[in-house]
Amino acid sequence: MSEHALELSQISKEFGGRTVVDRVNLVVPKNQVVALVGESGSGKTTTGLMALRLIEPSAGRILLGGHDITSLRQRDLKPFRRQMQVVFQDSYASLDPMMTLGEIIAEPLAIHAIGTASERRDRARDWLQRVGLDGSYATRYPHELSGGQRQRVSVARALILGASVLVADEPTSALDVSVKAQIVNLLQGLQADMGLSMLFISHDLSVVRSLADQVVVMLRGRVVERGPTDRIFANAHHPYTRALLDAVPVIDPTARRRRTFLTAEEINANTPRFRPEDIEPQPLVDTADPQLVALAGSHFVEAIVTGGR
Ligand SMILES: Nc1ncnc2c1ncn2[C@@H]1O[C@H](COP(=O)(O)OP(=O)(O)OP(=O)(O)O)[C@@H](O)[C@H]1O
Ligand SMILES: [Mg+2]
Repeated sequence: MSEHALELSQISKEFGGRTVVDRVNLVVPKNQVVALVGESGSGKTTTGLMALRLIEPSAGRILLGGHDITSLRQRDLKPFRRQMQVVFQDSYASLDPMMTLGEIIAEPLAIHAIGTASERRDRARDWLQRVGLDGSYATRYPHELSGGQRQRVSVARALILGASVLVADEPTSALDVSVKAQIVNLLQGLQADMGLSMLFISHDLSVVRSLADQVVVMLRGRVVERGPTDRIFANAHHPYTRALLDAVPVIDPTARRRRTFLTAEEINANTPRFRPEDIEPQPLVDTADPQLVALAGSHFVEAIVTGGR
């Protein structure tokens, strides 16, 4: 079976006539972590939420495990909901303050009418331990936890249904450095144990480097470069990717935004230019519009193709 865990094909989103995600193609192979990086507002969260059908795409297709879920009605989507989950940066907002941690973690089981109440409690306790918390936390409340502990609870809740695809949207960016590493380790361990396929949205390139198999770089709603992590880090071709990699980490550790000082003109001036005969055989139009071209080793970069015959 060759189908991918998740595949987005030509997916777009318009908000009020403005295209914020523009014909993005993105594949998360089974068992792999694909990182989605790019400046604030480039469309990463919108893309991740469209993958889960939490935002409706304006155009394009979403395939989950090879099944086209793009236009399934909510009722028909329900079995697929179990397979795809999300963890956000701000877990405090997503944990109901009135519920115990045991109830929070078990709630997806209840929603899907899985097991008896006591079976659900047991599984919630198992998951507390699996994410590194004592089973006794089951009777505590979210406000009693640290940020890192709350993120562990969010992970348990997301994975208790046995998801195959996890979208993690900056899951560590609100955490202190030491805690951040613990949560990354937790996600890495669970990913390996469960054979999870993960779309990992992050501004933290050192985490991306250690966690991701592949990197997809977005700029203003478009994918401008993608490829295996080691190739992207060693041999980025797009000026925007290079600027991202060169950007000095921000001094203030609480500031989560990285700045890349490149104007549209600078990007255009430095976008790679190829002649059609330089490029691996593939359907190409001779146009000045940037498009993704294939480099060696499953590495793609947006480039301007000039001088065609
Ligand atoms: N519900 C919405 N209505 C209108 N515009 C939106 C909506 N959601 C997002 N946008 C806009 O779409 C663009 C992409 O936003 P998105 O949140 O996907 O970016 P992002 O890459 O996740 O950024 P960040 O790194 O800051 O999280 C932004 O310009 C944003 O203002
Ligand atoms: Mg975002």
